[in-house]
Amino acid sequence: MLDDINFEFEYGKSYAIVGTSGSGKTTLLKMLTGFYDGYEGNIRYDGVDLEKISDQSMFQNVSFIHQDCFIFDDTIEQNIKLFRECDTDEFEQVIKKSMLQKLIHDRGGFDVLCGENGIHFSGGEKQRISIARALLRKSPILLMDEATSALDNQTASDLECMLSEMQGITRISITHRLDESILSEYDEIVLLNNGKIEEHGTYHKLMEAKQRFYALSMLSRHNNDLLIEKGITSLVF
Ligand SMILES: Nc1ncnc2c1ncn2[C@@H]1O[C@H](COP(=O)(O)OP(=O)(O)OP(=O)(O)O)[C@@H](O)[C@H]1O
Ligand SMILES: [Mg+2]
Repeated sequence: MLDDINFEFEYGKSYAIVGTSGSGKTTLLKMLTGFYDGYEGNIRYDGVDLEKISDQSMFQNVSFIHQDCFIFDDTIEQNIKLFRECDTDEFEQVIKKSMLQKLIHDRGGFDVLCGENGIHFSGGEKQRISIARALLRKSPILLMDEATSALDNQTASDLECMLSEMQGITRISITHRLDESILSEYDEIVLLNNGKIEEHGTYHKLMEAKQRFYALSMLSRHNNDLLIEKGITSLVF
């Protein structure tokens, strides 16, 4: 659980939340969406207490891409549009940004059925559908819980760069990828440990500080090198 969290996410900036499994990353994002009540302290959006904000207003302003994304048994188009009409150009832009063009083309178009829980698609494909849905909603706050975890490194890196370049959207993204190419794109990294924010700052600041973030980053690099040395290169972390 979380303890002594005191942090301000600024409008329009991008944040990466990192930390070991069980450190409280998902709990923190869920708290921001109002998933839990009965906590001590305050969560405020623009100075307004979360408890005073209506569900409708939260729905309009916050998009949350979950660790297990939700796909329903309808066409890929409806899974992205959520039955709302939208501008064709805008829809095509979103498809392009979410790197879904090839998939949709290969499957014969937007009418392809996703199946129960998106059974006809891979984990990474479902994540991209979920990202497209969030982009089309254009909510000013985008929360992502390992939204690119099932993707290969290159696609994940391209998508994370696209997300980090977006303007006018506050992005808070949990990621387990500690590569410099990805993390240096974020305005700030927040490291959780045992439910507390232990460090925060830019990638370079945290690397220079040589504290826990540096250690985690080195460990991840070392593990990758070790696997490559042992010829285990087919696993994508
Ligand atoms: N509903 C719950 N009831 C009790 N404890 C919970 C609940 N949800 C999570 N926890 C505990 O809170 C801690 C933080 O969990 P959380 O899911 O936030 O971790 P995480 O950093 O997202 O981990 P991961 O990287 O594995 O997704 C863990 O010790 C977890 O067991
Ligand atoms: Mg989690």
